[in-house]
Amino acid sequence: MKIILQSILFCLFITQSTAGQPAKLPYKNATLPIEERINDLLSRMTIEEKAGQLNQVSGGAFTGPALNDPGQKSKMEDVRTGRMGSFLNVSGVVETKAIQKIAVEESRLGIPLLFAMDVIHGYKTIFPVPLAEACSWDLKLMENSCSIAAKEAAAAGLHWTFAPMVDVSDDARWGRVVEGAGEDPWFGALVAAARVRGFQGKTFDDAHILSTVKHFAGYGAVQSGREYNYVDMSRQRLWNAYLPPYQAAVEAGAASVMNGFNTFEGIPVSAQPYLVGEVLKKKWGFKGILVSDWASFDEMMSWGYVANQKDATEKAMNAGSMIDMESRAVVKYLPELVKEGKVSIQHVDDAVRRILRIKFQLGLFEKPYGYSDEAREKSRIFTAEHRMQAKETAKRSVVLLKNQNNVLPIAAGSKKIALFGSHANSGQSALDFWSGAGDARQLSTLESGLREDFPTMTYAKGFQDNGASDPSLIKEALEMAKQADVLVIQVGISGALAGEDRSVAFPVIGENQLELVRALRTTGKPIVALITGGRPLVLTQLEPMVDAMLQCWLLGTETGHGVAEVLTGRYNPSAKTVMSFPYAVGQIPISYRVFNTGRPLPPAGGDSTWKSRYRDIPNDPLYPFGYGLSYTRFEYGTPSLNAPTMKPNGSVEVTVPVTNSGSREGEEVVQLYIRDHVSSIVRPVKELKGFRKVSLKAGETQTVRFTVTAKELAFLNAEGDPVLEPGKFSLFVGPNSKQTQELKLEVNP
Ligand code: GLC
Repeated sequence: MKIILQSILFCLFITQSTAGQPAKLPYKNATLPIEERINDLLSRMTIEEKAGQLNQVSGGAFTGPALNDPGQKSKMEDVRTGRMGSFLNVSGVVETKAIQKIAVEESRLGIPLLFAMDVIHGYKTIFPVPLAEACSWDLKLMENSCSIAAKEAAAAGLHWTFAPMVDVSDDARWGRVVEGAGEDPWFGALVAAARVRGFQGKTFDDAHILSTVKHFAGYGAVQSGREYNYVDMSRQRLWNAYLPPYQAAVEAGAASVMNGFNTFEGIPVSAQPYLVGEVLKKKWGFKGILVSDWASFDEMMSWGYVANQKDATEKAMNAGSMIDMESRAVVKYLPELVKEGKVSIQHVDDAVRRILRIKFQLGLFEKPYGYSDEAREKSRIFTAEHRMQAKETAKRSVVLLKNQNNVLPIAAGSKKIALFGSHANSGQSALDFWSGAGDARQLSTLESGLREDFPTMTYAKGFQDNGASDPSLIKEALEMAKQADVLVIQVGISGALAGEDRSVAFPVIGENQLELVRALRTTGKPIVALITGGRPLVLTQLEPMVDAMLQCWLLGTETGHGVAEVLTGRYNPSAKTVMSFPYAVGQIPISYRVFNTGRPLPPAGGDSTWKSRYRDIPNDPLYPFGYGLSYTRFEYGTPSLNAPTMKPNGSVEVTVPVTNSGSREGEEVVQLYIRDHVSSIVRPVKELKGFRKVSLKAGETQTVRFTVTAKELAFLNAEGDPVLEPGKFSLFVGPNSKQTQELKLEVNP
């Protein structure tokens, strides 16, 4: 019987192939399971072609140093000879399709390419920078903006973004704080997962793209806030203060992980076996692909970790790394390293298998041009709906830091405004280094956006972009101020100083800008400061001189419209900062997650001699993590616990009544912090472990509830395992990390 069946099948196979249809090679046969197709394809690949799948170069703009770039012709030859697996910085349907055709129709095996780009906070419709967006404390909002970014990127031929960046950082000197979600690891983990969901969706379809969680790991702790610098900390600190967002992103299904430029335990993380081998692959079971950061394999030579590119390749591969971005080291040396037995073919095959699996899952072998649809590119990018979403996100990202005498809001058209600031009428300045294909000309600037509500508004630059003092600009500003009711001044730094390679030693308001504010104060008119930039600046000198301050960050395409929603009061600001605002540069790095030390400062008025303090400034930041005001007032009633004790496997419930005692509706982010008073490793005096964003009508009271379990109370040991030790804990609830009410809790064995 079996023989008869086999003969029938054989005849069918012959019939099909003789009917002019070439018999499909198994890896090209979409009716076969993906794993079978991978096995078949892998068996046909030479070691050079396998190394090619691990080779990634920029096909467009340089987002790193152009190291001996061989030019487009050479890159296309690599595609033709199967020595290329993916490109970054090529986008656009026409551009990606042209290169894909070479890979699919001219190379020996026709393996499609992946196209990647840093779509960090928007492709064409640019959303607020991630740090600003995180201040909304609205995870659905953040997920939504990533899904819009993905939809536009996928319509532009892209399969893959190098986002979300999830590096925790409390150092405002580091330019890349702009890309993350601030200083708290627990909050950062929630944001990381939301952004992965937004970019990737639930399935690989033509409106989502592969996400990349970066920069693994601990890159936000670069020494002195200086880019590309070393990172040195204990594994216990790494687990508790830096790894949670990476883990959350991996658990949310991030398709890829990118290593950082830093070292950990003295080894460049491109070749750090503990991080990639022990943590990522073994402990977290990561099954996706690893991609290096720009030329970071090569940079092991500069670090003094290897002597040459071949050693770099060997070290990186044997640590578990995979795709080599822009070093071109793997494609050059991997074949010989395998032949010499220095790199196992098993690791190479595992890496190539993971890459091929994604290409099969994306359907690229059946539809290599599936992301290159010109009609979709026209219909899905920079739509009115996307811009409206960008405006909604922008207004929810603006933090009201000060509002003395309720200078704000200013009802549209109700006052004559004079606007000042060299970036206020510049679209480019509202875009940071990672603004994808965003076009500054399509951007609603502060000036254009506010003018729609205040047609009689006047504008003067007020100060030079380059920081130079310019009395003529101040004179002009003073003249203009005379005719206005309210003076609105944009101060801060532009997007040109936000992102990679933008570390600054003094994240402060420029002296020439303070000079303008001082001069305008002589008019006696109310002053509203709009603070721009991708990091918290030191506002200590500015604060006393102005009546109101809005932290506007860098808000992207809808900058002006978003700020106008808040300034006019059409939207009641609800954002709260996710990074502390330093009182002075000397405090940096600074976060709310401080340790008590052996000599804590006593409450104000106590004896501060021989205590952990500065002699010239306070220990506290100017504005603490979680701080942000509203146009209404929220009053917290007395919190309560449903029990004073709990078992390690139990839980307690915290409740706190919150009342909107003001005259208008508003949203409040109620925060829950914990403290472990006695622990086998010292723990911060506060750790964020819960929040609720609640909307309250004027006069309304809501009882906000939090459930606290071991998960919220435990710490991670040096192996990354949660540990809950019985003993005394405190729970804190309040509007920010400083203003809280305390509850006592005992965890009994
Ligand atoms: C850059 C960045 C990284 C980015 C990559 C590609 O150096 O560090 O975040 O994804 O190169 O542009």
